[in-house]
Amino acid sequence: MKDDVLSITTKGLTKSFGSVMAVAGLDLIVPVGTRFALLGPNGAGKTTTVRMLTGLMRPTSGRASVFGHDIVSQKDEVKAITGLLPETPGLYSKLSAAEFLEFIGALNRLQADVLYDRIDSLLSILGLESRQDDLLESYSSGMKQKVLIASTLLHEPKVAFLDEPTSRLDPSASVLVKELILALAEETKTTFFICTHMTSFAHDISDVIGILNEGELVTVGSPDEILESARASSLEEAYLKIVGRKVDREALLSWR
Ligand SMILES: Nc1ncnc2c1ncn2[C@@H]1O[C@H](COP(=O)(O)OP(=O)(O)OP(=O)(O)O)[C@@H](O)[C@H]1O
Ligand SMILES: [Mg+2]
Repeated sequence: MKDDVLSITTKGLTKSFGSVMAVAGLDLIVPVGTRFALLGPNGAGKTTTVRMLTGLMRPTSGRASVFGHDIVSQKDEVKAITGLLPETPGLYSKLSAAEFLEFIGALNRLQADVLYDRIDSLLSILGLESRQDDLLESYSSGMKQKVLIASTLLHEPKVAFLDEPTSRLDPSASVLVKELILALAEETKTTFFICTHMTSFAHDISDVIGILNEGELVTVGSPDEILESARASSLEEAYLKIVGRKVDREALLSWR
């Protein structure tokens, strides 16, 4: 595949923390405009992968690039074309939602007229326009999450990394975010790299799914390919078969 159609490439990407191998030799190719969902158990290495791909953490070994920019030697270029919704984001609680988004827009050097239009549109899509001047400290956790999603998409990044975007969102807000991602991917060819535990969300949102287990990519394919290869009728069933976490009832009560 030619470089100009590739959004993310990794070759042997590895991160260890002492004796813990968080990501073990990840080889991945994500074409431009793909909606890629990364699934995997707690501690599988999803967030570590995202941190490396957004230039926040140096790999122990291996390589990766985003739109041809090396994640180590060109991390500023990588940061300029990516958006990140972190797993545990920080917010400036003494700012209102509108002020926070203005601040993020200024950091990304957005022109004022474009910025204000986008803030209005995003806050209205996310149902926050009537609360946009309230301080973020007064927001519920789901409302904060919506503002953070808006801040990730505000500068129209070429690649948006969303680490568990639907955590804290109610079901209708999750559907809204799903539709927003699908619309943006179609309109703007944004590449989405989404870590999630919600298998039905992953099924609906993505055209490619990767399953990471103990730092290794154990499956990559379209939702249908994964269902077929696991002989499963839902992604949740396929996931459980692939990751293989069987629980026996006796063991569950053994602590008593
Ligand atoms: N800064 C760190 N220092 C030490 N170990 C770390 C650090 N960050 C992650 N790890 C370890 O790396 C492994 C992968 O963690 P990571 O956060 O990437 O998992 P995850 O797939 O995102 O899990 P979750 O679904 O719980 O968010 C875990 O064993 C974790 O303890
Ligand atoms: Mg994580």
